[in-house]
Amino acid sequence: MRKSIGGYLGLELSDGQEFYSDAIALNSGRSALEYILKCNNYTKIYLPFFTCDAVLQPIIKLNLDYEFYEINQNLEPIFDLKNISPREGFIYTNYFGLKSDYIRDNLQGHENIIIDNAQAFYAKPLSSLNTFYSPRKFFGIPDGGYAFSKKKSRIDLKASKSHDSMSHLIKQLDVSTEYGFLDYQRNENNIEKYSLQSMSSITKKLLKSVDYEWVMDKRNENFSFLAKELNQYNQLNIKPSKEAPLSYPLLLQFNVEKIKVDLVKQKIYTPKYWSNVLDWLPRKDLLEAKLVENMLHLPIDQRYNHKDMNYLAVSIKKKLERNE
Ligand SMILES: Cc1ncc(COP(=O)(O)O)c(C=O)c1O
Repeated sequence: MRKSIGGYLGLELSDGQEFYSDAIALNSGRSALEYILKCNNYTKIYLPFFTCDAVLQPIIKLNLDYEFYEINQNLEPIFDLKNISPREGFIYTNYFGLKSDYIRDNLQGHENIIIDNAQAFYAKPLSSLNTFYSPRKFFGIPDGGYAFSKKKSRIDLKASKSHDSMSHLIKQLDVSTEYGFLDYQRNENNIEKYSLQSMSSITKKLLKSVDYEWVMDKRNENFSFLAKELNQYNQLNIKPSKEAPLSYPLLLQFNVEKIKVDLVKQKIYTPKYWSNVLDWLPRKDLLEAKLVENMLHLPIDQRYNHKDMNYLAVSIKKKLERNE
C-alpha cells in the first residue's frame, strides 16, 4: 500500500527491537501452541493438571488425544518421560518463570517436549525444545504470542487486528486500572474467539517500544525483595532467579481466599492460577488443588519499586502473623 502523505500524526512509539525477533510472531500464546502442534503433527499431548484452560483450547480444536499429568511440590512432572511415544508431545510449564534450571538440566534434548513459557518471557528457548510465549503477561499489550518450532510447515497466516482489544490499556492510561477493569475482562475473554493469525501491527509496534533490560532488572529486584521478606513463610522452595519472574508465588498452609479479599480492600489485586484446575482434577486431595487454593501471586512487575514491595510485604506479614 502506498504511504500516505499528510493528515494526522500517529502515536510516538519508539522503534526498537523485539526481544524475540527470530520467533514466529502470532496473535496469542494459545495460537503459538497451535502453530507448534500443527507443525509437529502430534497425535496425543500430555499436559499438566496445573495450567491455564487456554492451553487445552488448541488441543481440543485440533481434535488431539490428551492426558493430564501431576506435578510435585517442586512443580516438576511426576511422569517418566521414557513413556512418551514418537508422535506424542509433552507440555511443561515454566511456572512463574522459576523452572528454567530444571528445564535445562532435565528436559533439554528431549524431542517431544513443548515448553510453555507464557509465565517466563525472559527464559530464552533452548534450541532442542519447541517453546511458546505469551508476552501480554509481562507487558501492557492487547494480545500476541511467539512460537519456536523445530519443525516448520507452510501455514498461511492472516494478520490479526488489535485496535478493538485495547480499550482497557487506554482507559488505564487515562483514568485508572479500576476504570479499565471490565474492558480488560471482556478483551481477555475475547482472545478465545480469535483463530490462529500472525501478530497485529499494533502489538508488534508496542513490543518494539519496550525497554527489555529495564523491565527485567525491575522484576528481578522486586522479586528478590519479596523473596528475602517472605521466603520464611513459603511452602515452596524459592531459589534466586535472574530471569525476571512473572510474580512471587507464596504457597501457604491454608486457603488464601480471605487474604485475597482483604488485600483488595487495600487496592492490592492478586490473580488466581487457575480455577479450571479444580474442575479437571479427579480427586480434591491432590497437591494441585492446594496450588490453586493456597497460593498467593504477588505482583513484582516494572510498575513497582522497593517502597511498594515493602508495603506489600508488610501487609502480608501482618496478616500471617495475626493468622487472620
Ligand atoms: C501457563 C499459560 N500457558 C498458556 C497461556 C495462553 O496464553 P494466551 O492467553 O496468550 O493465549 C496462558 C494464559 O492464558 C497461561 O497462563
